[in-house]
Amino acid sequence: MSASRGEFSSRFGFIMAAAGSAVGLGNIWGFPTQTASNGGAAFVLAYLVLAFCLAYPALMAELVVGRYGQANAVSSLKKISKHKWQHPLAFLVGFGGIICAGLILSFYAIVAGWMISYTVEPVAQLVGAQEAASWITGQSLTRNLLFAGGFILLTVLIISKGVENGIEKWSKRLMPALLGILFALIAYVFSQDGASEGLRNYLLPDFSAIFEPSLLVSALGQAFFSLSLGTSVMIIYGSYISKSENLVTLGASVTLIDVFIAFVAGLLIIPAMYVAQEQGVQIFDEAGKLLSEDTLVFQVLPALFDSMGSAGLYVGFAFFALMSIAALTSSISMLEAPVSYTVEKFGMDRKPATWTIGALIGAVSTVILLNFEQLFGFVIALTTRFGQPLLGLMCCVFVGWIWHRSSLLKEIEQGNPDAASGWFWKIWPWYIKFVCPIAISLVFINSLR
Ligand code: TRP
Repeated sequence: MSASRGEFSSRFGFIMAAAGSAVGLGNIWGFPTQTASNGGAAFVLAYLVLAFCLAYPALMAELVVGRYGQANAVSSLKKISKHKWQHPLAFLVGFGGIICAGLILSFYAIVAGWMISYTVEPVAQLVGAQEAASWITGQSLTRNLLFAGGFILLTVLIISKGVENGIEKWSKRLMPALLGILFALIAYVFSQDGASEGLRNYLLPDFSAIFEPSLLVSALGQAFFSLSLGTSVMIIYGSYISKSENLVTLGASVTLIDVFIAFVAGLLIIPAMYVAQEQGVQIFDEAGKLLSEDTLVFQVLPALFDSMGSAGLYVGFAFFALMSIAALTSSISMLEAPVSYTVEKFGMDRKPATWTIGALIGAVSTVILLNFEQLFGFVIALTTRFGQPLLGLMCCVFVGWIWHRSSLLKEIEQGNPDAASGWFWKIWPWYIKFVCPIAISLVFINSLR
C-alpha cells in the first residue's frame, strides 16, 4: 500500500497545506467575531497564550503520530498502542475524528456556500443582473443547496487529485492569494474614517475580563477549531511529511501562520466595523455589545460595502473571495481524513472514494439544511464543543501515556537529530502528559456549565 501513498513534495508545500487547513472561516470570521463579543483585546491575549501553550503541543502530538504511523488516523494510533486492548480505543479516537471531520465539513460547506454566493453577487450586480443578485443573497433553500453543493464539488475535485497534485498544488496557489487580498483590504479599510477607533478597541485589553471562565472556554475552543485539532486531520497531514523534515519547527510554523492570520483578520474586521459605524451602520446591539457572528458578516459588512458606492462592489467581491478561498483550503483537509481512511482500509481507488464520501457529506448537508433550526447549531456544538476537545485530549493521552517514550523520541529525532538535547524535548513530553490533558479537561468541564 505504501507505494501508492502520497507525500508533500516540499517543506513549503506542507506548510501551505497545513496552514491552509488551519486558516479558514475560523480565523477570518470566527476569531474577529469572538473577539468582538468577548471584550476585544482581552480575548486576543487569551487566545495567543492558549494557542501557543495548549494548541501547539496538541498539534505536535497529532503530527508526530501521523508521521510515525505513515497511515490514516486509525492505523497510526493502533501502531503506537503497546497492548492489544488499546486497539479499540485507537479505533474510537481515530474513527471518531474522521466522523467529526466529515460532520464539520457538512456544516462548513453550508457556511462556505453563503460566502461563495456573496462573492458572486457583486459580479451579478456589475453585469446588471439585479434580480439574480438579490436571489443569490436571499436565504432560500434552493440557493443554499446549490451553493453548498457547489462548494463540496470544488472540494471533491481537488481531493480526487491526491496529495501532491491536489492538496499541495492548490494550497500553494490559494494561500498567497489569500494573503494578498487580506492585506489589500486592510490597506483600504485603514484609509477610511473610523478605523483608528476600531484599532484601539482591538488592541487595548481590558485586563479584568481575561480570567473569565467563559472567555477562556471560547478562546481554547477557538484555538482547537482553528488548528483543526481533534479530528485526525493533522494526523493524516503528518503522515504525508517526509522523514527528513524537522517536525518541531514545521508545527511551530503552522501555528505561527495560523495565529498571525487570525490576528491580521482582526485588524481588518474590527476596524471595518467602526468604519461602518462612521457611515451610519448600526454596529452595537441594544445591550451595547458589538454585533457579531452572522449579523456582522452578512449585514454590517455588506452595509458598509453598499455605502462605498461602486468601489464597494469590488471591495465586497474581494472580501467574500477571501472568505471562500480560506474555506476551501480548510475543507480539503476535512475531506482528506475520511478519504484517506477509505482508500487505505478498503483498498478503494482515490477517485471513487472521494466522490462517494463527497456525496455522503452532501447528503448530510442537505439533511441539515432541511432541518436547519434543529440541526445546524446542534451539529456545530456536537463537533466543536464536544468532539474536538475530547478527541484532542485522547490524542494527548495516547502520545503522553501509551506511546513508548524512546520510540516517540526516535520519531522526533528524524529530521531533527539534536532533538534529545533541545528545549522542545525537555518541556513537551510533560506537557502532553499532564498539562494539556488537565487544562483541556478543565476547560471542557467549564464549557458544560
Ligand atoms: N481550521 C479551520 C478554520 O479555522 C477549520 C478546519 C479545517 C477544521 N479542518 C478542520 C476544523 C478540521 C476542525 C477540524 O476554519
